[in-house]
Formats: sequence, structure tokens, C-alpha cells
Amino acid sequence: MQIQKDLERTLLKEEEIHTRIHALAEKINKDYDGAPLIVIGILRGSVIFMADLIRKLNMPLSYDFMAVSSYGDSSVSSGTIRINYDIKTDIKDKHVLIVEDIIDTGRTLDRLKTILLGKEPASLKIITLLDKPERREIDVAVDYVGFTIPDEFVVGYGLDYANRYRNLPYIAVLKHEVYTQ
Ligand code: IMP
Ligand code: MG
Repeated sequence: MQIQKDLERTLLKEEEIHTRIHALAEKINKDYDGAPLIVIGILRGSVIFMADLIRKLNMPLSYDFMAVSSYGDSSVSSGTIRINYDIKTDIKDKHVLIVEDIIDTGRTLDRLKTILLGKEPASLKIITLLDKPERREIDVAVDYVGFTIPDEFVVGYGLDYANRYRNLPYIAVLKHEVYTQ
């Protein structure tokens, strides 16, 4: 059974994604100008984006991960997040870049930012591959955005529905019937 049958249409092609990531990496390389960086990937959606991005970065770099989930079973982000896996790296006085797959309501990142700022990094920036501004409930400042997309449910390139479709090399809109049935 092929996963392609669940897709409405391709939103971002593989080459488009790679070209954009290359441009983002160039900007980040300029901005940090060789300063050491700790990259924190938010599991699990950011993994593929982060792997492609960091291989284009040229400063001394280390990376770590965090896994978070919203409290409760609601599919709507509740704003209270539970940390399921925390970083093992000491980020005090270090430059930190959070890598997200997509910003939707902004609640997850808003909470994460507060938690990480409590650890007193030298600086804290955010990069997201995708941004759905129409859905924003909390105005969280994002430093680097790959693509601004319309309010549609997308999968692929790390993004999932029910933990599937992450392995698609491009980003596609999921058919409505797949997540409403
Ligand atoms: P929020 O910004 O707190 O609402 O949550 C963002 C999270 O919701 C992301 O990290 C994704 O896990 C998930 N999410 C939001 N929109 C999509 C989508 O279109 N496809 C897949 N996951 C999504
Ligand atoms: Mg996520």
C-alpha cells in the first residue's frame, strides 16, 4: 500500500525545500559569524529538517533534543506542555538555536522559549521550516522561517499525521478524509 494515495497535492517539492534550507543556512552562517552554536531539535518532527540544515552550517556546533507534548488528549494545543525528554547539554552563556518543524498556534514554542530562557543562554533564536500564521494564538517571535504556508494540514519531510508520512521527501497536503474518518 502506497502512502501517496492519502495525499491531496504536493505543497513543497524536494528541490524547493533544499534550496530554501541552503539559503537559510547561509544567513545563519553570516549572523553567527563563526560563534559556537548549540542546536536544539524539537522531537520528532524537526529531525529531517535539522539534519539537512546543520550539515550546511560552518560554526563549531553541537546538538541536543527536547521532546514535548501538550497536556491532555485534545488535538488542540492546550498551552501547557509536558517535557518528555529534556536537553542534557548545559546551555548557560551559550548561543542556542531551537529547530521546529512547524509553528501553528505558537503555544508550544512560547512555553519552550520561556523554559529555555530560564537556563540563561547567551542568546536564544528560533528557526522553523514552516509557519502557519493564520492559526497563531500567541505572538511568538521567530527568527528564521523556511516557508509561510496556508492553513492546511501538511505531512512529509519529518511532519506527521498519527506518526506516519514523516519519510516523504517532500511536503504534501493530507487528504481531508484521512484525518476526519
Ligand atoms: P503549536 O504551535 O503549539 O500549535 O504546535 C505546533 C505543533 O503542532 C507542531 O510541532 C506539529 O507537531 C503540530 N502541527 C501543527 N500543524 C501541523 C501540520 O499541518 N502537520 C503536522 N503537524 C502539525
Ligand atoms: Mg512537532
